Amino acid sequence: MANKPLKAVLIGAGERGAKSYAPFALRHPDRLQFVAVAEPNAARREAFSLQHGIPRELQFEDWPQLLEHEQLGEVALVCTQDWQHTRPAIAAMRAGYHVLLEKPMANVAQECRDLLQVSRETQRQLHICHVLRYTPHFQKMRELVQSGVLGQIVNVDQRENAAFWHMAHSFVRGNWRNKEQSSPMILAKCCHDFDILNWVLDDSPVRLSSFGELSHFKVENAPPGAPLRCLDGCPVAETCPFYAPFIYQGMVPFWNSLADTARGFPRWAAATYATNPGLIRALSGFVPVLHQLTRYDGWPLSVLAEDPTPEKIDLALREGPYGRCVYHCDNDVVDHQVVLMQMESGADVSLTMHGLSHNEYRTTRIEGSHGRLMAEFGTGGSRIVVDEHRTDWRMEYDTSADLRDGHGGGDLRLMAYLVDCVNDGDFEEIYADTQAALKSHLLAFAAEDSRLESRVMSREHWE
Ligand SMILES: NC(=O)c1ccc[n+]([C@@H]2O[C@H](COP(=O)([O-])OP(=O)(O)OC[C@H]3O[C@@H](n4cnc5c(N)ncnc54)[C@H](O)[C@@H]3O)[C@@H](O)[C@H]2O)c1
Repeated sequence: MANKPLKAVLIGAGERGAKSYAPFALRHPDRLQFVAVAEPNAARREAFSLQHGIPRELQFEDWPQLLEHEQLGEVALVCTQDWQHTRPAIAAMRAGYHVLLEKPMANVAQECRDLLQVSRETQRQLHICHVLRYTPHFQKMRELVQSGVLGQIVNVDQRENAAFWHMAHSFVRGNWRNKEQSSPMILAKCCHDFDILNWVLDDSPVRLSSFGELSHFKVENAPPGAPLRCLDGCPVAETCPFYAPFIYQGMVPFWNSLADTARGFPRWAAATYATNPGLIRALSGFVPVLHQLTRYDGWPLSVLAEDPTPEKIDLALREGPYGRCVYHCDNDVVDHQVVLMQMESGADVSLTMHGLSHNEYRTTRIEGSHGRLMAEFGTGGSRIVVDEHRTDWRMEYDTSADLRDGHGGGDLRLMAYLVDCVNDGDFEEIYADTQAALKSHLLAFAAEDSRLESRVMSREHWE
């Protein structure tokens, strides 16, 4: 007999909670239903409640109010900001909910350990949003590596190439710019990479060292005469890649090209608009839907304003944090960092994170005694290529997911997995995954300590 839909409560109806995970319930109402929400931002709370049919009495302004209520469902999604994860997640488990917790599980190592302890004590499942594990791309990569086709693996190069606009948006002007207020960059950006490396390789580091700093987004690199805000007469408005109106207005066709299918007009038109706006303007006389190419209200514009109209974006650029010159912000997280790891197997692994990439993508290169694997995973699609040394056999896999599905399909697949686990999951198996997530976080903290203390760290430091 089919299970009834699970009942879920959402803590934090922001970009991730409301827009990345909750759509699963709208697509699969037979599997999951949101019955309550806690969100201080009234517009977000109301929009979410309207979408999911949540009655007024189950709309809360703050998570303690929701969790003090008698238990309303089986699972709680905790999707608040990095520094607000531990308390609601622990309170939710103590109130009887299984928990889906955004990464980083916490921005302090001891709190990450505390979370596991409470999961064990209460026997509540604790799922950490390591969404990459659930993508067709990394699942295929793991399958290939585990099949042995590469032979003995001796060297791995993993790169997290954050695009220049993403760096400027999130890590210079935005929510993750300051280490004390959010997380160290290597934790925020790369706890996923540590997790993926351990999981794909079925291996684990024994020693690591790390280097990196904030090199570019500093006041000494400000172009002569650059004002504090881009719109206050910046002399390099025409050439600066970080010029806020360029990112939030000029790149609208690019954002549209990522979201096009959801809006029902073809992707090629958005791509063409970016290079040849005149052609699309002319065509829109015959195909009115093309007018929509100049309109967009998804991420990252939705971070600047609720329901972001061009007028609201203009105001946000004049007055809000996202209109600041990137060389005059209060950011302190690094813009590049490398981590070198020696693995249990003897293989060495290098992990690079930087925020000045032209495109947004991750790359992986794995060298083995019998073959090589090269992979790209990004907004433009994903693929894996395997070359076998002896036979020159080459196999190519297209691992792209639907563009509408965030993180290469990982967000919604994680939700499907969550529902399966809450219905029938084995606690010990799930707890082993939570332990793996803890390890990836502890490795990120160790890398940060290594960078700050100029030290090689060995396993005792994080185990
Ligand atoms: N898994 C991933 O790959 C991934 C990707 C991006 C972000 N994240 C993480 O997801 C988390 C959320 O990011 P986001 O972009 O959705 O942020 P967001 O700011 O859009 O959403 C957080 C929401 O929490 C709400 N909130 C604040 N205080 C609250 C309280 N007391 N009770 C209930 N709600 C409260 C805020 O009003 C906001 O709407 C962050 O920790 C971030 O690092 C994970």
